[in-house]
Amino acid sequence: MKHFTKFESKTLADTLIEKALYYKANPRVDKALGEGKRIGCIFLNPSLRTRASTQIAAINLGMEPIVMNMDKEGWALEMHEGAVMNKGTVEHVKDAAAVLGTYFDILAIRAFPSLTNKNEDLADFTFNQFVKYAGVPVISLESAIRHPLQSLADMVTIQENWNGDKKPKVVLTWAPHIKAIPHAVANSFSEWSLGCGHDLTITHPVGYELDESFTHGATVEMNQQKALEGADFVYVKNWSAFNDYGKIINTDPSWMLTEEHFKSAGQAKVMHCLPVRRNVELSDEILDGKRSLVQEQAKNRIYAAQSVISHILG
Ligand code: CP
Repeated sequence: MKHFTKFESKTLADTLIEKALYYKANPRVDKALGEGKRIGCIFLNPSLRTRASTQIAAINLGMEPIVMNMDKEGWALEMHEGAVMNKGTVEHVKDAAAVLGTYFDILAIRAFPSLTNKNEDLADFTFNQFVKYAGVPVISLESAIRHPLQSLADMVTIQENWNGDKKPKVVLTWAPHIKAIPHAVANSFSEWSLGCGHDLTITHPVGYELDESFTHGATVEMNQQKALEGADFVYVKNWSAFNDYGKIINTDPSWMLTEEHFKSAGQAKVMHCLPVRRNVELSDEILDGKRSLVQEQAKNRIYAAQSVISHILG
């Protein structure tokens, strides 16, 4: 594995999940693996979990992590080829990424979408410009269209909370939000859940259809209550419209899950990647109740990152 940017295969996913669970039980067992090596964590956007968990994962493997908040501390980057840089941008990504590639053994990049230029976002333009010029393995810390470290942590969380002898029924449900939110978490969760062989149902209001290239094979059920019937895991996430790109077209609060929604899914566990807007996206009673796996998911971000870094180093 050179880069870690998306779901590649069930075989690799199973290997990474197994390794993450091993590291959860033995966090420092491979502390010599990364000795003398550095990982550069480059953030073009805010983060709490990804920033901290990736550093902890690297430290557990004996690596030295260095974080750069490029949006605040770096030069304003030009991303477009052949640009005449006579406006706000100061340094071209082909220079910046190449320099970073000489400083680090692995680069990890967070680059959110614009939600205004659909073609560039779908091409994962900013993220891929870094990959193109870095010259070292690149890990996605969330790109315009995917958040694979989150999804790997989600798969780890489902595996450790599932001992049924059938495929788990997993429901990805849209939730209300006051801001236009990217599709990356929902896309990636769908990609990994389907790739790992779950029985996936996606539910959302009319107009919130996701990019079909990520959801092919999932059941789409617009009636949330019907979708939740018999669910084993319910993944809650807001995303903005994909067809009417980046727009908020519904804020119906009845889509926010409360205990009342679980009459036909009594045993269901609830997941959310965080950060969450309490009592807008998800109610206090669910987040603080016995169904919630959100803290376990966040903890598993360490071991997912550790598994991926170890696999690249190995
Ligand atoms: N889930 C997640 O990626 O959290 P952060 O944005 O805080 O890193």
